[in-house]
Amino acid sequence: MIEIKNVTKIYGGKNKAVDGLSITIPTGEIVGFIGPNGAGKTTTIRMMTGVLTPDEGEILLNGTDIVKEPLNAKKQFGIVPDNADIFLRLKGIEYLNFMGDIYDVASSERKQRIEDMAKTFEMEHALNDKILSYSHGMRQKIVIMGALICDPDIWILDEPMTGLDPQSSFSLKQMMKQHAAKGKTVFFSTHVLEVAEKLCDKVAIINKGKILFFGTLEELRETYKSSDSLEEIFLEAIHHA
Ligand SMILES: Nc1ncnc2c1ncn2[C@@H]1O[C@H](COP(=O)(O)OP(=O)(O)OP(=O)(O)O)[C@@H](O)[C@H]1O
Ligand SMILES: [Mg+2]
Repeated sequence: MIEIKNVTKIYGGKNKAVDGLSITIPTGEIVGFIGPNGAGKTTTIRMMTGVLTPDEGEILLNGTDIVKEPLNAKKQFGIVPDNADIFLRLKGIEYLNFMGDIYDVASSERKQRIEDMAKTFEMEHALNDKILSYSHGMRQKIVIMGALICDPDIWILDEPMTGLDPQSSFSLKQMMKQHAAKGKTVFFSTHVLEVAEKLCDKVAIINKGKILFFGTLEELRETYKSSDSLEEIFLEAIHHA
């Protein structure tokens, strides 16, 4: 579970990127985070994962405060950040082992997970190449594999499908469903409303740092009776905010 309580982030003393935001992401459900460019999704995710410190409010990951107990809180989640261009000079396999070392993943488990994920994402033949030589989608895949190598309880993914081919995107969505079905937490941002519509149990719509709506798609359609399509509802919600 993720509890975000009245969180605010102000950049440069005046730009309120996140403004008194509160949501609780329950276990056993996939929650999608949608909103226009600059709405505050990445800023929220960076605060959830301890990259940025909130100016106000608190964030608990499985009950552990990310500011007060960062190490314990960080053991609860795996993060796929919005930028996959990391550790470019390492080979894929070196990066995965590095992540395995950080999270203390036993070598037999590690080997099995790498094997399984490499097969799923068709990365078996790329692991001995440097990440620098990878395509955009391959970088995204290695970052996803690195985030999941420790089998984290909570998955936090910032636009995870970006650059993935249809097969890999499908596989990731299946993995997200299986994780939630195990009673775990999955929170991800996306601009692809079709993905949100098909995959999510609940959606959170953010605009100008504030939550406009949080609930199931049925509740969303009840609130905005004007249309059935998530795209039209989204545009209406944003423009009438
Ligand atoms: N490091 C920073 N310094 C100053 N302002 C920032 C910084 N990062 C983000 N912002 C501002 O904060 C606001 C929210 O940005 P954020 O990256 O959280 O949006 P987002 O919802 O993730 O957008 P996108 O859909 O484009 O990824 C924007 O107005 C942005 O200009
Ligand atoms: Mg973003």
